[in-house]
Amino acid sequence: MSQKLNLPIRPRRNRKNAAVRGLSRETVLAPEDLIYPLFIHEDESDHPIESMPGCHRWSLKGLVKEVGEAYQVGVRAVVFFPKIEDDLKTSKGEECFNPGGLVPRAIQAVKEAYPDVVVITDVALDPYNADGHDGLVMEGDDGELKILNDETVNILCQQALCHANAGADIVSPSDMMDGRVGAIREALDGAGHKDVSILSYTAKYASAYYGPFRGALDSAPKAGDKKTYQMDPANSREALREADLDVAEGADMLMVKPAGPYLDIVRLIRDTFDVPLAAYQVSGEYLMIKSAAKDGWIDEEKVMMESLIGIKRAGADMILTYFAKDVAARLTFP
Ligand code: PBG
Repeated sequence: MSQKLNLPIRPRRNRKNAAVRGLSRETVLAPEDLIYPLFIHEDESDHPIESMPGCHRWSLKGLVKEVGEAYQVGVRAVVFFPKIEDDLKTSKGEECFNPGGLVPRAIQAVKEAYPDVVVITDVALDPYNADGHDGLVMEGDDGELKILNDETVNILCQQALCHANAGADIVSPSDMMDGRVGAIREALDGAGHKDVSILSYTAKYASAYYGPFRGALDSAPKAGDKKTYQMDPANSREALREADLDVAEGADMLMVKPAGPYLDIVRLIRDTFDVPLAAYQVSGEYLMIKSAAKDGWIDEEKVMMESLIGIKRAGADMILTYFAKDVAARLTFP
């Protein structure tokens, strides 16, 4: 039996076919929104990373080749994460500002091959620090580990300068020390690097979603956790406070990390601040999609696209994702 409804307003009309849906689409993902995080190491060959299927630790040669492949499909921004040899790790992490170190050489190699690729570097001590923390560690009288703030900021400034000297376009402090954005800005300007930008990890949460990344770099803290510097996952007002400071200290761009479980924070910062906003789809978010797809429970490509459009819709202008090359390929050659 057919029923007649008197419905002058029918939202489904805007979904009636692919072309109409295209016209009505509110959010579009493009290759130029993507930042491709790449792992590098001091080795002649490339190694697949067990905890992150599809990702590799690249040799410098492999890195340039991978950046080239991503370039072909429209990716124009990369960020490097180094695995530092154990014998170069110290309690002060001095290797982080060695001008002949792995990251400066990677910057030079990529800028030489692809001058218009935006090279972003991670500024933090965890890959260099024998303790695996983002800052300098001191053991208090009570045996508790303390992460020293101001001493760490001094070293981060040297690290940022080292990256800028090597040709980095953007430095990206991921350590969550207080005052580091202002100090790095001053150090960069003092050295004539006024055009080097700062993409600040503004709201970086103490998240279990970073697990596979720490496996990739062997950079997990040897003792304690990161809760005295990374943010409590329960907090959102605190993210606004961090953003206020970063903007006042001169950050050019802000970041929320992780992305998927923190979309409310992305939206909150987007609505409150005018600077461009990045969100980082971290290793655990990536791995969850990869593993579920491996067993055939979800469609990897569709969930990948949906996870990223969700992050963009929440207000991110740019997204760091290990899927960058695959997504861009799909967007460029649908
Ligand atoms: C460390 C850093 C981490 C990530 C990026 N930079 C890990 C951490 O804070 O322990 C995580 C990225 C990911 O999980 O994909 N400075």
